[in-house]
Amino acid sequence: MERRIMGNFGGIIHGGDYNPDQWLDRPEILEEDLQLMKRANVNCVTLGIFAWSRLEPEEGRYDLEWLAGIIQRLYENGIYTILATPTGAMPQWLTGKYEEVLQVNEYGVRNFPGKRHNYCPSSPVMREKTRQIDTRLAERFGSHPGVIGWHISNEIGGNGGDGACHCEHCQNAFREWLREKYGSLDRLNAAWWTSFWSHTYTDWSQVRSASARGEDLVHGQNLDWKRFVDSRQLDFCREEIRAVRSHSTLPVTANMMEFFYTFNYFRWAKELDIISWDSYPDWHSGADELRMAARTAAAHSLMRSLKKKSFLLMESTPSVVNWRQINRLKRPGMHALSSLQAVACGSDSVQYFQWRKSRGSSEKYHGAVVDHRNGADTRVFREVARLGERLEKIAPKVVGTCNRPRIAMVFDWENWWAVQDAYAVDNDLDYLETFLDFFRPLWEMGIDVDMVDMEGALDPYSVVIAPLNYMYRKGYAERVRAFVSRGGCYITTCWSGEVDDSDLTFTGAHPLEDVLGIRTEEIDAPGGYCENSVRYHGTDHRITGLCGLIHAKGAEVLAEYQNDFYKGYPALTRNVYGDGEAYYIASINEGSFLKELYGHVLRERGLECGLQVRLAEGVTVNERSRAAEDGGQSEKIWFLQNFNREPASVELLARYENVETGEMLNGTIELPPFACVVLMEG
Ligand code: GAL
Repeated sequence: MERRIMGNFGGIIHGGDYNPDQWLDRPEILEEDLQLMKRANVNCVTLGIFAWSRLEPEEGRYDLEWLAGIIQRLYENGIYTILATPTGAMPQWLTGKYEEVLQVNEYGVRNFPGKRHNYCPSSPVMREKTRQIDTRLAERFGSHPGVIGWHISNEIGGNGGDGACHCEHCQNAFREWLREKYGSLDRLNAAWWTSFWSHTYTDWSQVRSASARGEDLVHGQNLDWKRFVDSRQLDFCREEIRAVRSHSTLPVTANMMEFFYTFNYFRWAKELDIISWDSYPDWHSGADELRMAARTAAAHSLMRSLKKKSFLLMESTPSVVNWRQINRLKRPGMHALSSLQAVACGSDSVQYFQWRKSRGSSEKYHGAVVDHRNGADTRVFREVARLGERLEKIAPKVVGTCNRPRIAMVFDWENWWAVQDAYAVDNDLDYLETFLDFFRPLWEMGIDVDMVDMEGALDPYSVVIAPLNYMYRKGYAERVRAFVSRGGCYITTCWSGEVDDSDLTFTGAHPLEDVLGIRTEEIDAPGGYCENSVRYHGTDHRITGLCGLIHAKGAEVLAEYQNDFYKGYPALTRNVYGDGEAYYIASINEGSFLKELYGHVLRERGLECGLQVRLAEGVTVNERSRAAEDGGQSEKIWFLQNFNREPASVELLARYENVETGEMLNGTIELPPFACVVLMEG
């Protein structure tokens, strides 16, 4: 068997979480698994995610032989392994003997043993026990030819938790972290504005985690606590990486959870070789699939953007989840479409939770490739196997390509934390939902975007869209200024440039007043009921959120409010700055407004969809391309996806070849419900 490696697999990975540790007393099941995997075109599994108690049944007694046998047998049958470190769930001997490994919540109550994703990241015992088991695994399997990479823990911080532990180990670590950051209590008090309500700290020992039982109204403190929780968990993860690297050069990943509020994944990405994530869209739950489809595309794009490289879809359900109130079956076709959507957005894999349904406990009715009954004779199995064939077919065109957008959206975790904590005009304001509302029109237009945070480079892009950039992190305004003056187009909104890194408001002018050419004044929150609109290019667009009251100070006014006491105030402005331009959207409006604005900007800059097509509603397209070497033509492929529950007609304005069938396509083509067609230049 040829040597393969995660991140450079030489094909599209197809497989998923496999838990043979639950079936070790049933060898016939393990044999059946192998035969069924081959029939399902599975080429890789993830092993050992929750297997700690099988790998180390008693403290210090390791039993890795069963795992060695399985890895070897899979390998001999053409199936590779991504090997997990088992810290996602702790064995009873560990939690029973060492209380400190269990998290303490914000009310000061320590958890009992059980569940998962709940260790204390500061506990010295937990760190030591983790180092020992991880090192053993690396030593034993780090150079096995069937093992292609490391899967660190599982959905770190996930499962309803916020990754935070408030125990005394963590309190002390928080104080240390703050000491390092501020150097003195005076600086900390100034940054946190603790003179408010007389809460000035006079001794380091008084400083504690942000908590509902104590202090959670000092915004600077809340923000630093979130930063600390993020860095503490990341530090634990870093130790796990160090442990596996002690005996292995294989790449590492950690499965992420889309827009996971607690962790700043841009920081995590720097520690990982490959980005992977777990995607569980709530298909078939709303009036249509489009909102969910756009949101999922945004999440995939975020994952790709973290390293600007293809990523892995580490988990998805082949049929149904079981943890929502209502769990709908994926309709025929949706499994292939949602899997190919991931590939369209930059994934080099389609992996599942889970290979086989367990017989007991809380996930026994969660979807799996193999059900409790019927082996390969199920609708789900057939759809999975068929998808495996399709992935094999398109792999030669896909492998080595990636999405290369010229447009970026600023998505910043620290800004998210600050927006949600602002206590201002609209306490229902949701940064993520607003961000997604700004993303969706681009998705509808078949335009890919990258996401960058406020530390990310803006120069590779022609257009940068920055909704609700409330907090301007250090250096951000300067970088935007340089980007625009060199010819970039910057589009931003109200509720931007309000506070600095410490969540202290700026005084004086808006930090980008010169670039935007406006002066900001008040802000109104019309709430759910808003009769106002903005007129842009002769059309009225409904306002759906905040209304910023601004004055032009050099900028051209392109749209105005139509009602209320601020009727006639600027609602959209454009300012030329250096070689570039900056748009300021004063109010949050319905999608049609953004489509109009984006359409105009993209046309001006020649950034329209690369596939020559007239799209229908609910049909979108993603482009992956090979990097053009030495100025040569770059090879492109397009994924045309119909998220409608009905057929849709699109018009191809040039000749394209269907990568899977070789058929030449031109003019009007009919896409069945939930179809995805992969095209290349004809
Ligand atoms: C994921 C988790 C898996 C499994 C799955 C069920 O969040 O990583 O272990 O629980 O959800 O949907």
